[in-house]
Amino acid sequence: PLPAHIYPNRRNSAGVDLADPLALAPLVEDLEHWRTDDPIARSTLRAERDRARTDVHSPFSGRVVGQCIPATSRDIDLAIARAVAAQPTWDALGGEARADLLLAASDLLEENTARLLDLCEREAGKSLPDAVLEVREAVDFLRYYACEARMLFGAPQPLPGPTGETNLLRLHGRGVFATISPWNFPLAIFMGPTAAALAAGNSVLAKPAEQTPLIAALAIDLCHQAGIPTDVLQLVPGDGTVGAALTSDPRIAGVAFTGSTGTAQKINRSLAAREGLIGILIAETGGQNAMIVDSSALPEQVTRDVIAAAFQSAGQRCSALRVLYLQEDVADTMLTMIKGAFRALVVGDPVDLATDVGPVIDEEAKAKLEAHVAEMQAAGFPVTRLPLPEICKDGHFVAPTIIEIGSILDLDEEQFGPVLHVVRYPVGTMRQVIDDINATGYGLTLGLHSRIAETRAFVEAHARVGNFYVNRNQIGAVVGSQPFGGEGLSGTGPKAGGPHYVTRFATERVTTIDT
Ligand code: SER
Repeated sequence: PLPAHIYPNRRNSAGVDLADPLALAPLVEDLEHWRTDDPIARSTLRAERDRARTDVHSPFSGRVVGQCIPATSRDIDLAIARAVAAQPTWDALGGEARADLLLAASDLLEENTARLLDLCEREAGKSLPDAVLEVREAVDFLRYYACEARMLFGAPQPLPGPTGETNLLRLHGRGVFATISPWNFPLAIFMGPTAAALAAGNSVLAKPAEQTPLIAALAIDLCHQAGIPTDVLQLVPGDGTVGAALTSDPRIAGVAFTGSTGTAQKINRSLAAREGLIGILIAETGGQNAMIVDSSALPEQVTRDVIAAAFQSAGQRCSALRVLYLQEDVADTMLTMIKGAFRALVVGDPVDLATDVGPVIDEEAKAKLEAHVAEMQAAGFPVTRLPLPEICKDGHFVAPTIIEIGSILDLDEEQFGPVLHVVRYPVGTMRQVIDDINATGYGLTLGLHSRIAETRAFVEAHARVGNFYVNRNQIGAVVGSQPFGGEGLSGTGPKAGGPHYVTRFATERVTTIDT
């Protein structure tokens, strides 16, 4: 069925049921077809033949799986000029027409699921189940923000005129947005902020992560096929210098960034240092996410949720569980069960449906995680690791790891991979646990397993986090149901996939007409 075009009846994408052999067989066939493809990502501007290319590598095999023609400073300059020129027409088109184009793009993405899945595996090393969720989320963002465009950018909102005047409030695009996206959700978090900026009437320069330009290039191509003008939405692939060129240009009205807290702070400084236009920053950054388990929790449920939250997507989600707090008197039982399930994890080829944990993105990520594990081991913290099978020898694999530590404050930064830390806390010290979690300065996700209503209310009242999950895992926020995003060092808000997101990409104008 077609997506519901009316906001209250909006439906998320059904995705693909991988447990259904009838759904799986044609998908696998389609995937085989695309696996022989030779993709190239380039900026939307016509690329000349002799332009420098960079290779895109598979995190699993290390092989070259595509190429990228990075945007030069001249490309960026021209792209910004085109985006500036195209924006007023795009803005004047209105929310209704922009929504139609975003919905058409969402349908095209869904129709091209197999191609997108192939690229997710190829350049990001995603497992098929993860990649399916990723395509779904991208489609959901496009549809959700299309609905927002309809609701918020249609007729002006009349406001009271106590002295007889007419007051009308309208939302408009701010101008040109740069969206700078991460490799861990190379489609969903690439498409989400881009779709929101477009919905609000901005033109967009979309910069994918350096490691994952191929899927971004296809997504932009599909958006153009859906009818979104090529000057309104442009791909600008490349490394950090492309991002820096965008954020330092005073023609850029806003930046939507997802990545590290340090880079967000750098972008903020770059925006502040420009002469002219005062740019805004929307940033989704890191976390030091905890889960607290008390003695009223159900051990089987805890085990399932800990394994998913810490090791799914090889721990490469901003929402992933990093520090598990176990109440001391149940810690041994819980940890025995968790380690049992941990030992059953299958590490290997992301293409294989039996695989639970695939590679991390690149050598740098692997080296950082390995250095952390070595440092913790040297400091005397007990470490449990899985052996890596032979198939992992060429890829950027980090063996799933459990490290027992004393407090979340023993960690200095987020470890973005399959490494879980465990802390035992004495009964009656919940206040201290929450204070320590808050003291990290991060505030993204927090899990709680407890059947005690007072405990839930206490944690909810005192924890400064954006997404609090009770008696379930803390990953996989669903667009429209669990708007996602953190506070403090974890980001500026607003929450992706929530009702306050698109308005942050807009500016407000009020017309007052006297009689
Ligand atoms: N939105 C993703 C999740 O909820 C995190 O990056 O898992």
